[in-house]
Amino acid sequence: MGMLACNPTLLFHVGVSERASGAIAATNLVTPSPDLQQVRGDGPWPEESAEQAVAWEEGLITYVGPADDLAGVEPEWFEGCTIAPGFIDCHTHLPFAGWRADEFEARLSGVSYRELHGRAAAGSMSEREGASGSPPKEGGIYRSARMLAAASDDEVLAFCRSLVQEMAEHGTTALELKTGYGLSVEAELRQARLARRLSEEAPQTCSVTLLACHAVPEGMERADWVRVVCDELIPAAARERLVDAVDVYVEDIAFSVDDLAKVARCASDLGLPLRCHADQLGPSDAAQAAVALGARSADHLNHVSATGIAALGGAPATVAVLLPTSTLFLGSSPPDVRALLDAGSAVAIATDFNPGTSPVLSMPEAIATACSLYGLRPLEALAAGTVNASTVLGFAPERGTLAPGRPADLVVLDGDAFRMVPYRPGHNPVVRTFVDGERVGGR
Ligand code: NIG
Ligand code: FE
Repeated sequence: MGMLACNPTLLFHVGVSERASGAIAATNLVTPSPDLQQVRGDGPWPEESAEQAVAWEEGLITYVGPADDLAGVEPEWFEGCTIAPGFIDCHTHLPFAGWRADEFEARLSGVSYRELHGRAAAGSMSEREGASGSPPKEGGIYRSARMLAAASDDEVLAFCRSLVQEMAEHGTTALELKTGYGLSVEAELRQARLARRLSEEAPQTCSVTLLACHAVPEGMERADWVRVVCDELIPAAARERLVDAVDVYVEDIAFSVDDLAKVARCASDLGLPLRCHADQLGPSDAAQAAVALGARSADHLNHVSATGIAALGGAPATVAVLLPTSTLFLGSSPPDVRALLDAGSAVAIATDFNPGTSPVLSMPEAIATACSLYGLRPLEALAAGTVNASTVLGFAPERGTLAPGRPADLVVLDGDAFRMVPYRPGHNPVVRTFVDGERVGGR
């Protein structure tokens, strides 16, 4: 198996329907059940079927089924390939401007992520004094905030545009954009506006999250920033309709569970769903707090406790978002994903694409890492990177499965079974990417 080359060839020639605006067929097709908004616990996992076709018109799927039964249209045939729903990357930190490869290298020499985050800038106090009288922080999130501030809007968009296209080439048909590199009310609003502009330009469907509490702005007390976030930032972002959700980074170097509760109240008053960076660098009981607050997701979870796992297992509203490439990149310990599934949790996989902890934008790579590092099985990982991720972004049930009436967001992958994706890390399996029936990527 897996020996056939994946080559598009025209198989059928029965006349092109005037109504159909696209049709493909392949050796294999896989989709989560379109009847579910999320796959929890032990399934049902997506199923694979041989020799299937998908047709669509005006961006909406009109047919999914045996290639032999598709009439009135000439599908493009992909021999040795698999058709699947497009990948949904439900956790990224785009837009950002610039890389931090030197921090990566420093970490390989033994400097920790925490140290880089808190490291003071080189240079004399008089030259570089922060508002609090202490030297400004040089690394980590603060560094990305400086780079974003130093770049013009056009520079940020030009930097991000090619990355978003690269994501399309890797099969991402919908994604999250996030703030969190602003670190002031005005700079956060600017980043949210840039995210909205990027989402208008992007070939994919995007959702914007306000990560208002990512790092405590220099010269401010944490409690004061949380107050400003609740009293000014979130209301201003909501007034301008800049964001679709609000996120909080709960960590000893960032914000507390109490801060999360305050932001949750404010977000809920304005009708914005909550998300949470939970238990990433150390345990903080954030996962169960996120569940108790009705968050859409608890993300990272490297140090989630047994209580957190049980809470996620019993929480239909809260998806456990796994970010395995940041785990790999930081050398963190993986969460017990089998325990999460056994408890009944819905798990999603995302890239966490950012210049600090995960400079990886490829969903196939994130899926491959989830399988090898977290022990997910290929079809569990497929559900995690499609329908479950769609729920996190509020795109379910429309996006994330293949069924008539749904948007034609799909990929053609160059293997005759989905397992070829995690089996070949480092290889881009994407032959075609379609969003709303339009070809946006592939080779
Ligand atoms: O999801 N943990 C917090 N935020 C990001 C990293 C941000 C950065 O280092 O720039 C994350 O890993
Ligand atoms: Fe993140």
